[in-house]
Amino acid sequence: MAHTPYPRPSPDEITPRSVWLSRRTLLAGVTMGVASRLVPRARAETLHARPGPFQAAEKPTPLSDVTHYNNFYEFGLDKGDPAALSASFAARPWTLSVEGLVARPRVWDIDQLIAAMPIEERLYRMRCVEAWSMVIPWDGFPLSSLLAQAEPLGSARYVAFESVVRPAQMPGQRGGLDSLGWPYVEGLRLDEAMHPLTLLAVGLYGETLPNQNGAPVRLVVPWKYGFKGIKSITRIRLVEKQPPTTWNQMNADEYGFFANVNPEVDHPRWSQASERVIGAGGFLGGGRKKTLMFNGYGEQVAGLYGTMDLRRNY
Ligand code: MTE
Repeated sequence: MAHTPYPRPSPDEITPRSVWLSRRTLLAGVTMGVASRLVPRARAETLHARPGPFQAAEKPTPLSDVTHYNNFYEFGLDKGDPAALSASFAARPWTLSVEGLVARPRVWDIDQLIAAMPIEERLYRMRCVEAWSMVIPWDGFPLSSLLAQAEPLGSARYVAFESVVRPAQMPGQRGGLDSLGWPYVEGLRLDEAMHPLTLLAVGLYGETLPNQNGAPVRLVVPWKYGFKGIKSITRIRLVEKQPPTTWNQMNADEYGFFANVNPEVDHPRWSQASERVIGAGGFLGGGRKKTLMFNGYGEQVAGLYGTMDLRRNY
C-alpha cells in the first residue's frame, strides 16, 4: 500500500458543520446566563469550506470560549479585552502583500484571495505557551497554496509575517505596552511554512473570522505554541535570514524562534508538561491533560527537525 505521510480521514470521521452548529445551539441554550458573552456576529458570513485533512479527535472548544478568551495585545492585556474592544476594528477593505524573494510579488485584496484559494475546515488542537489549550474548527487555506503562487526564489529560506498597525482602532497600540513594540511580527522557516498543516485562517466555526481572533487573516501552526499564530496579517515577506519575532525580541530566554510544543522543555517560570483544557472544566473537575510533543502532530512534523537539539532550539 502506498505510504501517505499526511493521511486524509474518511468522510465519516469528519465532524460535519451541521453538527458543530447544533452543538453551538445547544451550548447557547445551556448557557443562557452568559448569553451576553456570545459574539456580536452581525457581519459574519458563512464560508463555503470543504472538509479538509487533519481533523483532531477531540471535541471543539465552545465558540464562546474561542471568542472570549484571547491573546491579542493590540487590544489590551486581558483575555477579555479583544472581544470587548475590537468591535470597531475594520477588517475590510484589507490587503495582504506577498513580497521579498519571490518571482511574482502581489498585493491581494482579501476577498479576492479567499475566492482564489481552496478553503477547508480543519479541526486543530491549539496549545498556548501559557499552558492552556483549545480545539478550534478553523476555515482557511494552506499557506503553501499562497506561497506557491508567488514562486519563492532559491535564495528564500524564511517567511516573515507582519500584523497591522492601526492605533486609532487598536487601543493596545496607543501606549501602555510599549515594550512589545508594533507591528507584531513572526516568522517560520520556509519548510515549516510550506508544510501542509500550516494554515492561513480566514474563519472559524464556518463563519468569517471574528475580529478578536485575528480578522481577516491569521496564521495557525498547530505544532507550535499559540504565539506563532500571528493575527491580522498585512505583509508576508520571503527572506534569506531568520527574521525577528515579537516575543523572542522581548524575552529571548522565554520565547524561542521555533516555539515547538515540547512538554520536556519548561518555560523558565512554569511547567509545560500539562495543559488546562479551556471549556472542559465542567462538574467533574476534569479539564487538564498531559501535553504531547509537537502538540500531538509529531508524526507529521518531527521530520522537519531531524537531529536538531530541541532543548537548545526551543
Ligand atoms: N497576533 C497579534 N497580532 N497580536 C497578539 O498579541 N497573540 C498571540 C497570537 N497572535 C497575538 C497574536 C498569542 S500569545 C496567542 S496564544 C494567539 O494569538 C491566540 O489566538 P486566539 O486568541 O485566536 O486563540
